Amino acid sequence: MFERVYLDHASTSPLRPEARAALVEQLDRTGDPGRIHAEGLTSRVAVEDARQQVAELLGARPREVVFTSGATEAIAAACWGAAARGAHQVVPAVEHSAVRLAAERHGPVTRVPVDGRGRVAVEDVLAAVCPETALVHVQWGNHEVGTLQPVAEAVAACRERGVLVHVDAAQAAGHVDVDFRALGADLMSVSAHKFGGPSGVGALLVRQGLRLPPLLVGGDQERARRAGLENIAAIAGLGALCGSLAGGGVAADGEEQRRLTQRILDGVADPALGLVVYGDPVGRVPHIVCLGVEGVEPQAVLLGLDRLGISAHSGSACSSESLEPSPVLEAMGVDAHHSLRLSVGWSTTDADVDRLLAVLPTVLADLRALARTQ
Ligand SMILES: Cc1ncc(COP(=O)(O)O)c(C=O)c1O
Repeated sequence: MFERVYLDHASTSPLRPEARAALVEQLDRTGDPGRIHAEGLTSRVAVEDARQQVAELLGARPREVVFTSGATEAIAAACWGAAARGAHQVVPAVEHSAVRLAAERHGPVTRVPVDGRGRVAVEDVLAAVCPETALVHVQWGNHEVGTLQPVAEAVAACRERGVLVHVDAAQAAGHVDVDFRALGADLMSVSAHKFGGPSGVGALLVRQGLRLPPLLVGGDQERARRAGLENIAAIAGLGALCGSLAGGGVAADGEEQRRLTQRILDGVADPALGLVVYGDPVGRVPHIVCLGVEGVEPQAVLLGLDRLGISAHSGSACSSESLEPSPVLEAMGVDAHHSLRLSVGWSTTDADVDRLLAVLPTVLADLRALARTQ
């Protein structure tokens, strides 16, 4: 019997032991960090230590870190806060639905096209900016095909134009080195569960000096930037994770993830398999590859792999009930109905890749044979 092979880290990555240990330790404690009793102060220390560790890993100042429930909330808060300054937002066509849909809530959105690899041109982003533009979004790395965006150039250009810029780094943090201060972005969203932290926690990084109205109001947690009692245990887990990755851990993990995904790309290169690579095979986040699968429905491929113990995902099949074309692939002008995303992470081994490469050709051959008989 084979153990299961988990190749869906881009959806959510298993909890790393160091994050789990810190999370479990906090779960047994009680204490509102906003209170001045001993329990409250202990929680406050846990949250502030975590803030320091997150800030250090991401090249931010601790005060620039606002803990949220994940990237979706961080993005919604960025969109909400910026909307107080103007109605219009600029959204590259391959942004995550959390960005696309949150931006659309506040007024007109200009969708910026991408090239065949899913990359946006900085000139096109700038051309979409108008006097009413409150916020420009540029994701760091794409969640479906992995393509890296020219974030540094886009951020520099927006800053020069004096327009706020938000970077969705949910698929970058923990996989590539992120330096918020060096990048110069106004806002950045990250999510813990995408790189081995607990689910239900993330952060919005807010550039020092930038004041935006908060999405969640009520208490004055997070310096009145995000109301509601902090998810202390999850925050402690995220902090421990960031602490363990500081000092070169991200680069080392990224290198290993790139080696593993490159093995996948090399292993599926045989034209007889009928697979094409979507996205940029080089300029991509290290942990994601996306394949176009000719002539086979993605659901069938996913179920075939799952039956043989392999977990993967297809952007062409966003929910288990419906078969939707992938907006990312549509924007890239490729077949948006037949894709397979394979994403590795901290727990992925060579044996996992071996198993995938052994099984995938058989799954595809069986499905194609079945299709011919129908
Ligand atoms: C690029 C990107 N942005 C945002 C999100 C939302 O993240 P979260 O699950 O933390 O809300 C995801 C998750 O799929 C993502 O891949």
